[in-house]
Amino acid sequence: MTANVENFDRWIRSSFIEINTELEKLYQQQDDKANVVGIGDSLKRQLEEEGRSLIAELLREGNTDEGFDAGFDLLGNVGFYMAACRRHEITEPSREDTSPLKEASALALQLGASLGVTPRFATAHLTTHNRAINGVAKSFTSLEDEFIFNEYNTRAVLAYKRAADALFRTVPLGMSNVSVPDLLDAAYDALEDVIRLNDILFEKLDVNAFFYLVRPYYKPYRVGREIYRGANAGDFAGINIIDLMLGLCRADDSYYSQLLVDKMLYMMPEDQRCLMDCMRRPSLMDQLLQSPDSEQDSEWFQLVASKFLKVCDAHGRTAAQHHNNLVEKFITKPSQGMDEVYANKLTASGPPLPVLLRSLAKLRDLRLAAERDDIPSRYRDIETIRNSLR
Ligand code: HEM
Repeated sequence: MTANVENFDRWIRSSFIEINTELEKLYQQQDDKANVVGIGDSLKRQLEEEGRSLIAELLREGNTDEGFDAGFDLLGNVGFYMAACRRHEITEPSREDTSPLKEASALALQLGASLGVTPRFATAHLTTHNRAINGVAKSFTSLEDEFIFNEYNTRAVLAYKRAADALFRTVPLGMSNVSVPDLLDAAYDALEDVIRLNDILFEKLDVNAFFYLVRPYYKPYRVGREIYRGANAGDFAGINIIDLMLGLCRADDSYYSQLLVDKMLYMMPEDQRCLMDCMRRPSLMDQLLQSPDSEQDSEWFQLVASKFLKVCDAHGRTAAQHHNNLVEKFITKPSQGMDEVYANKLTASGPPLPVLLRSLAKLRDLRLAAERDDIPSRYRDIETIRNSLR
């Protein structure tokens, strides 16, 4: 780490958090808690100027090629700064044609392009690639609810990744391999972990704090000329690897593959590679459906098919929990009755909330293999496998 990188990192882990936290406290004192205009202007200037001068030093230093990890970490720090400026409306993409944060944009674009990722902060920066120092990871504020969200989001992502890893390991083995039931058990256990962790998040996280203090940092913002959509908890490959390996979603469904294309650069390069690989593989569901009739009565088929159905069921339950509990409690309900000016800026990806909710419900129903004929749900195929069980 060069001295300039270290200085910037120290600032991100200290003054940056203090300024954001102070500003959040000021916003909360208003009747209209969603308003940030005209509040804490000197703190906002301090944030913008301190960040700008530290980033200008980094630009002057030039490319020091410290390797992928260092570059990705620095991109995260620049991204935290740009996202905070967006949150406090120091920048506002609909007001500008190009980001006024010229130095930060230049550094972020250089880093993003050279690393093969989007030139903004992504979920990995806050979760799976957020280095803690003496027990404290990076964050925007020092508010309890941000810590709760980051902790349970990270742990759920890691659990999804464990499930994805177990399923992907079946590829070279073939479905009838004696080790496959263990892998399906591992995937099932990991998905049960996701459900357990999301339940805790659902209970512990305060609705208003999440809505007004945490989520605004994940909004879209401009880097240079382009607007990049906000980060969301789902920007990792694991969940899609599970979708594809199980066969509940398919890469040849344009609705689904569009979603993958959209999130590709928001994921770590190793996630991107793994997902691309997965898109070329036959799913476990198709392999089971294609098993000859003569094998369907065998011990291996009966065991693997019953465990496969359990994993599908658990995956469907995580999706229903995300949509019916987390999204409903923390986004849909609090946005009801909200002023249209704010409601239009609510989602991380940009579309109006009802459009986003319909799209998320579709995803939930694919994962549930719900009985719907207007989407390519696998409910009939799941029934076929269920009926082949003794
Ligand atoms: C307070 C808790 C949470 C809320 C309110 C929430 C809400 C949302 C919303 C609104 C989206 C759509 C993003 C957009 O395009 O604007 C989304 C996407 C997503 N979230 Fe969450 N989320 C929460 C926690 C989590 C957690 C803990 C996970 C697990 C890792 C997760 C996984 C995903 C995934 C995978 C997506 C991408 C769409 C998909 O594949 O389902 N979310 N979430």
